Amino acid sequence: MEQYIIKGGTPLVGEVEIGGAKNAALAIIAAAVMTDEEVILENIPDVEDVNRLLNAIEDVGVTVKREDRHVVRILGKTLHTYRVDYEYIRKMRASYYLLGAFLGKVRHAEVALPGGCDIGSRPIDQHIKGFRALGAEVQIDKGVVYANADQLYGQRIYMDIVSVGATINVMLAAALADGYSTIENAAKEPHVVDVAIMLNSMGADIRGAGTDIIRIHGVSRLHGCRYSIIPDQIEAGTFMFAAAATRGNVLVKNVIPKHLESITSKLREMGSAVWEYDDAVRVIASDEIRSTHVKTLPYPGFPTDMQPQIGVTLGLASGTSIIIESIFERRFKYLDELVRMGAQVKVEGSIAIITGVESYVGTEVTAPDLRAGAALVIAGLAARGYTIVDDIKYILRGYERFDEKLRALGGDIALVTNERQRTEFMYRAV
Ligand code: UD1
Repeated sequence: MEQYIIKGGTPLVGEVEIGGAKNAALAIIAAAVMTDEEVILENIPDVEDVNRLLNAIEDVGVTVKREDRHVVRILGKTLHTYRVDYEYIRKMRASYYLLGAFLGKVRHAEVALPGGCDIGSRPIDQHIKGFRALGAEVQIDKGVVYANADQLYGQRIYMDIVSVGATINVMLAAALADGYSTIENAAKEPHVVDVAIMLNSMGADIRGAGTDIIRIHGVSRLHGCRYSIIPDQIEAGTFMFAAAATRGNVLVKNVIPKHLESITSKLREMGSAVWEYDDAVRVIASDEIRSTHVKTLPYPGFPTDMQPQIGVTLGLASGTSIIIESIFERRFKYLDELVRMGAQVKVEGSIAIITGVESYVGTEVTAPDLRAGAALVIAGLAARGYTIVDDIKYILRGYERFDEKLRALGGDIALVTNERQRTEFMYRAV
């Protein structure tokens, strides 16, 4: 079993380069399949979720060529079936984007219901509502979603809930529908905008992405393009909080500072200095971390995907902090692990009350999901002594060379697979 072993207590100092946004890449790979011409995608992160989706589309006939670690050529012309099996996607939620992509392209899709991190109930009713509004028949049978349409017609679609996935999925299908669609109460996350820009560079006619209302004039076909994915807001935010929690000084490069505003503003409230450049931010931690309150919200609010990272940092603050998790109901599981490292926490439903402690104490903890796993690594880096993080398969789904990047900042962390490697790490000559 792969684990991270960490010797905590060293402030992270130096520079780190952020990769392409995983959640944008997943939707954009699905979009790339919608044309018969070649699409070249740059800045694709080399992480498990992305590689699994690339395998899934290859399995249905799409030609996928990895030019190098971060550049992929996709040729959707060779697509020969519209059924994506459970085996490929059971651990990957974003497989649902193939529903919208296939429905738009060929008016037919069969995709097993998505898995993903267990962070709360994750219905897809808004996706289905959108597809039905466009004229598709959608059924779920034995865990597979079947979507069929003779024709898709532009429609006015109001989302009952602000959903990133539903907004993107309906946008994919509507891009190739007949006529004009609007998506109202749309999600405004940076990756929603990135997918819209990418679709437009394939010939789609989408306006308003990044606002509440997205307006889509359906086109009859899409063409090939070359597109570079935006930097990963959450990977960047993770390193920013790692700098703050370890009392470090880190230049986080290849980012769009505007996408990080809610994170930057919380870090400043907590006492860190954050300097913004054109495409980088520097976080200089203060010795004393100040407590604060935070509520997760859709963009431009504080992202739920950053809640565990701010949580472990607030656990080291002076005073008491309150976190309200308003998006997913099971996103506090990491706090049970953090308590084992000495944190003082009380959870009441969607509210966590955290009273800061001087320091965490290293122990063996288990990553409950992707972002929570990364947060426990931050806790380990800030802790006294040795921390072992189990179940890092979750972390590998979304962070590329996480341990390597942390080591380059001075973090004492290694990926180990057996007892001998663990012992070597602990007893190596200093
Ligand atoms: C995406 C991200 C995930 C992030 C989340 C919120 C990907 C692959 N994943 O997930 O990392 O945490 O956005 O920023 O991009 N909901 C419904 N019905 C639906 C769809 C969603 O009730 O049909 C609810 C969900 O249960 C949740 C809320 O809406 O409470 C937001 O979910 P959504 O934005 O859809 O998240 P995902 O797209 O699944």
